[in-house]
Amino acid sequence: MHCGRVTRAGCVLSTITRRLPPAEASGLRTGARHRLAQVYRTGDLVVLGLGVMIGAGIFSIAGQQAATMAGPGVILSFMIAGIACLLACLCYAELSSTMPASGSAYTFTYVIFGEVWAWIIGWALILELQVAAAVVARAWGQITVGALGNFGVRLPRSGLVEDGLVLLILVLLTGVVAVGARIGLRALWIMVSAKLLAIGAVVVVGVAYVDVANFGDFYVDPKPAAVPSATVLDLFFGQSQVFGWFGVFAAAPVIAFAYIGFDIVATAAEETVNPRGVVPKGMIRSLVIATVIYIAVAAVMVGMVPHTAISLDAPLSSAFEAAGVDWMVHVIDAGAVLGLTTVILVLIVGQTRVLFSMARDGLIPRGLAAISRAYHTPSRVTLVIGAIAILLAEFVPVLTMQELVVVGTLFAFLFVSAGVIVMRRRMPELERGFRVPLSPLLPALSLVATLWLMVNLRVQTWTWFALWMTFGLVVYLVYGRRHSVLAESERPPSPPLPGRGRHRR
Ligand code: ALA
Repeated sequence: MHCGRVTRAGCVLSTITRRLPPAEASGLRTGARHRLAQVYRTGDLVVLGLGVMIGAGIFSIAGQQAATMAGPGVILSFMIAGIACLLACLCYAELSSTMPASGSAYTFTYVIFGEVWAWIIGWALILELQVAAAVVARAWGQITVGALGNFGVRLPRSGLVEDGLVLLILVLLTGVVAVGARIGLRALWIMVSAKLLAIGAVVVVGVAYVDVANFGDFYVDPKPAAVPSATVLDLFFGQSQVFGWFGVFAAAPVIAFAYIGFDIVATAAEETVNPRGVVPKGMIRSLVIATVIYIAVAAVMVGMVPHTAISLDAPLSSAFEAAGVDWMVHVIDAGAVLGLTTVILVLIVGQTRVLFSMARDGLIPRGLAAISRAYHTPSRVTLVIGAIAILLAEFVPVLTMQELVVVGTLFAFLFVSAGVIVMRRRMPELERGFRVPLSPLLPALSLVATLWLMVNLRVQTWTWFALWMTFGLVVYLVYGRRHSVLAESERPPSPPLPGRGRHRR
């Protein structure tokens, strides 16, 4: 930006708060070479949403939270997280129906709040999607090794087999995403259908073994935590506890991991036919279906066995083993292996779309926004994401980092909820394919519900998140601020080089 006589601080402030014009949200400025093909319809988006939502959250985390944090109250935790996510989903639906762009929350924030906030949200989404892909790949490795063991395949005890499997799945899925949306989409429909069948079997078969006594009154007396790890809320109320109401609320944001994914549907907007109407439908339908499934599965699981008997390694299978229905273990194994495969696949797709948008806007190197001539996909950025996911999954203890994924996601929810309110005031004339009912009440409730989940996350998670965001801000000030496409368009044209004129003459 050309600042003339403005002070240096004022100049920096005005550059970092520059806003992307809504008409350019899907990259009109940068032209056809950076546009994605339109392939998705409503059904595809529902499958995409279920593909990415139903995974480690329901197959592993739900049982772990029931056993260690909330008891049968985990059903309430699912409801609390579900309500917060549904409110946020309505806000995402309005903004993506107004700006159907692949950057999702990053692009909405660029238009509504300005560049530095967009960068911050983009950076939080990178944390969400990149770490989530690595977390789920690791969980996939564990589950696959367990499933092979259950089928009688004897494997060496060292972790090398699991490491090899994690590498294999990430290389395979990165390749699928890099070579084309259609191949991925067909595979996705098949795998999501199989996973839904397995989940359906859990509910239909399991319900016959439910003992209502196991539900208690959804409340287990609180106990001091064995390993104190205070949430932000605990700091205000004293000692760190498990179970009781604190347990139910502390489990809710961890459970929110299971809902992560409806927001990723918004990243498919630019590749959707008639996105203004179709994206809100796909997003809301997939979230409602997933919520019903989660509550049903959680209710069956805590109804089948006392929460103290749920195994941390294989929660759902252990409930069926305890009931003597051993064949269901194989059904659950197959559902989980396929289920987590689609989660990783869509997470990689979502991450490519966010980074693609940031690169197209010049906030990260623009070469990453190149679309492959052969496959018509952003294959270069896909390979980078696959490589980083492999490094994280192989060399970092990612299974302890689920909360970090959640805090990144919730942070974006805050901006999307506030964005609906601000955008209605500032840009009322824009065409909206979907409007949040009772605005500004529901977006405001979404803000409060998201904040509530966030204060129930651990202080340790917040510390890591603050470090990540500070690092991101430094990267923006050093690189993005200077290289953004908006910055370039604001620069005055450079004066002709001395001597050039002479040559022409
Ligand atoms: N919602 C996804 C899962 O539960 C991330 O695995």
